[in-house]
Amino acid sequence: MTTAGATKAVHAKAPGKINVFLKVGALLDDGYHDVATAYQAVSLFEDVRATPADDFSVSFTGPIDTSSLAVDGSNLAIKAATLLAHRAGYRRGVHLEIEKHVPIAGGMGGGSADAAATLLACDTLWGTDLGRDELMELAASLGSDVPFAFAGGTAIGTGRGDKLSPALAAGQFQWVLALADFGMSTPEVYRELDRHRDRHAQDIFPAAIAPQVDTAVLQALRAGDAHMLAEVLHNDLQAPALHLETQLASVIQLGEENGALAGLVSGSGPTIAFLAPDLDGALELQIALSAARLTVVRATGPVHGARIVSD
Ligand code: C5P
Repeated sequence: MTTAGATKAVHAKAPGKINVFLKVGALLDDGYHDVATAYQAVSLFEDVRATPADDFSVSFTGPIDTSSLAVDGSNLAIKAATLLAHRAGYRRGVHLEIEKHVPIAGGMGGGSADAAATLLACDTLWGTDLGRDELMELAASLGSDVPFAFAGGTAIGTGRGDKLSPALAAGQFQWVLALADFGMSTPEVYRELDRHRDRHAQDIFPAAIAPQVDTAVLQALRAGDAHMLAEVLHNDLQAPALHLETQLASVIQLGEENGALAGLVSGSGPTIAFLAPDLDGALELQIALSAARLTVVRATGPVHGARIVSD
């Protein structure tokens, strides 16, 4: 990684995710909702290269238009680096170069993956060596999905989504992702769900009952069976996301008419995740959706979490 006289750099990567199941419970006093989710990490990775610097900065490369992203202290990767420096008593800074592959504001945890990869890259670069437990604790304070981007694989998330327990998983699932040319705000989608629940008082989730992941979801993941999983894909944020962006319903329909076992809004949207029966089915679906002028990428899951890469 280091040669005499060369600038030292550490490269880490972390994956995006699909919530194959997301049940939203009560709105808590802290403004977050109690959730129960099954996460699967998928093969769209954020690459973060960290080099020593006197202050904190970030720049972006890669195939995605990143012009909308903040590069100041409000950027989650910068927040991750400053948080780690503060915790470890490190007095200098870092430059982060992020090669983005996960859609921005797409409901796939791209910002969370940036933060997770940054924590690992800076911990290695600075030799702060905090260890996994402390890095996971910092991850949770950065955002609900950051611990999972760090852990990867397949996991159940409760609390805000940050309390993880591993789930057994077999095989590989084939996904086709239809990307939107706009982003959606996670708080706004949660607020739309709350408005709906207020309008229909019978839908209010009882605060005393914690949401749970259906056992059928765990069975399908354990079996590595796409047909079983397709039957039980579920996202409570789908209805509010479709209410805010009505055109997404026709994208789901198009995918399901062209061989997808099922389509689902990913996280708070607007990315639509289609589960394909196998690789051939995924390729056919990719062609059909591309022909309809949608922007489409394929991904497989589960994949590993945040890792150092030796270039
Ligand atoms: O944790 P994160 O910063 O990703 O959350 C963004 C926003 O999404 C929160 O401020 C909150 O409005 C909403 N959220 C929620 N319940 C969760 C996770 C997120 O209401 N479990």
